[in-house]
Amino acid sequence: MGLGLDFFGLKKHHQNETLSRRLKENIEQLESKIHQLETTQIHTLAVLESMTEAVIAVDQEERVLFINAATEGLFQIERQKVKGRNLLEAIRNAPLNELILKTVRQSEPKSEEIQMLTPIERVFKAQTAPLSRQGKTIGAVAVLHDVTELKRLERIRKEFVANVSHELKTPLTAIQASVETLLDGAINDSSHNRKFLECIEKDAQRLHNLIEDLLQLSRIESKEIPLKKENVALSETARRAVGQFKKAIQQKNLTVEMEIGDEKLPADSVQLQRAIDNLVDNAIKYNKQDGRILLRARKEENWIRLEVEDTGIGIPEENLPRIFERFYRVDKARSRELGGTGLGLSIVKHIAERHGGRVEVTSRPGQGSCFTLWLPA
Ligand SMILES: Nc1ncnc2c1ncn2[C@@H]1O[C@H](COP(=O)(O)OP(=O)(O)OP(=O)(O)O)[C@@H](O)[C@H]1O
Ligand SMILES: [Mg+2]
Repeated sequence: MGLGLDFFGLKKHHQNETLSRRLKENIEQLESKIHQLETTQIHTLAVLESMTEAVIAVDQEERVLFINAATEGLFQIERQKVKGRNLLEAIRNAPLNELILKTVRQSEPKSEEIQMLTPIERVFKAQTAPLSRQGKTIGAVAVLHDVTELKRLERIRKEFVANVSHELKTPLTAIQASVETLLDGAINDSSHNRKFLECIEKDAQRLHNLIEDLLQLSRIESKEIPLKKENVALSETARRAVGQFKKAIQQKNLTVEMEIGDEKLPADSVQLQRAIDNLVDNAIKYNKQDGRILLRARKEENWIRLEVEDTGIGIPEENLPRIFERFYRVDKARSRELGGTGLGLSIVKHIAERHGGRVEVTSRPGQGSCFTLWLPA
């Protein structure tokens, strides 16, 4: 009997040991699962936090479940303060709120463009998807992509095509009109026929210049022509630019001053000439009668800084950010009258950038402008 009891006791002890071993194993497994889940959660959070897109998750009552750092920045809100709050109250954006609401109600993904003042106006593409558990919608998540830049490029492209067509059409229409007048009889009117031919010549020249500028621009942009860098003497390039416009300078009785030493820089001489020509051309065209032009260059650390300053009409501040865009002119009628197409400064900008430099402008309406070319020395 004693032996039996003993045996029973031993068996029990053995059973307990197995049980506790199993329990220990289970706990270990559970701990490892929790650890795995925690790691996954940390990774997911890290991904969400590092996203530049704003991410917002809400429950089926439209209470905020989660927002990432990008959302905090975009809406100027703090997650501790908005968690659990109504979405519209938290983000104060009716169209986005409406979109998320629809996603929850209809249980399907949505996509819409949303404009926001942040405080500058930006455009976002909001994409939403329902959150579901076991086939039941329990909320929604929204991701906001900033498409402002894409929209801007799209607008510029559309404007570009419209502008090219318009710019080509204007001189062409004028040529057609002159030709028609000549054919209608003016050809035999010796006192006028020459005037019409001169008009045709002027408009054909405009067309030629425009196409030349467009080709230049697209070649520089597409990097089709490799830069032929050599040591260029800046004073010579500047002197040549001024020399080319001698007639126009005399007509306006402008004084040209030059403060350029023997600075040399590694540049493509043809392109650099083109850039400086364009700046000097503008300094003349938009100058006043008896005005002044100053060309100044100096070396600043690893840069050559070339300034082209004029005492002309100046550029209103609101136009400054756009003058380097293709076809952009402050006063369209005036510039066209002067034979301009608004391509000069975009060519200058591209040339500067292709050399690893940049172009800047300061201007005071009514007093003058100063364009600065920064090029690596
Ligand atoms: N020095 C300047 N002073 C005042 N306005 C200027 C000056 N330079 C440029 N602008 C303004 O910027 C616009 C764009 O200049 P840009 O050189 O690109 O074109 P454009 O001179 O009109 O034509 P293009 O140079 O193609 O013949 C001009 O139309 C003019 O309104
Ligand atoms: Mg110009």
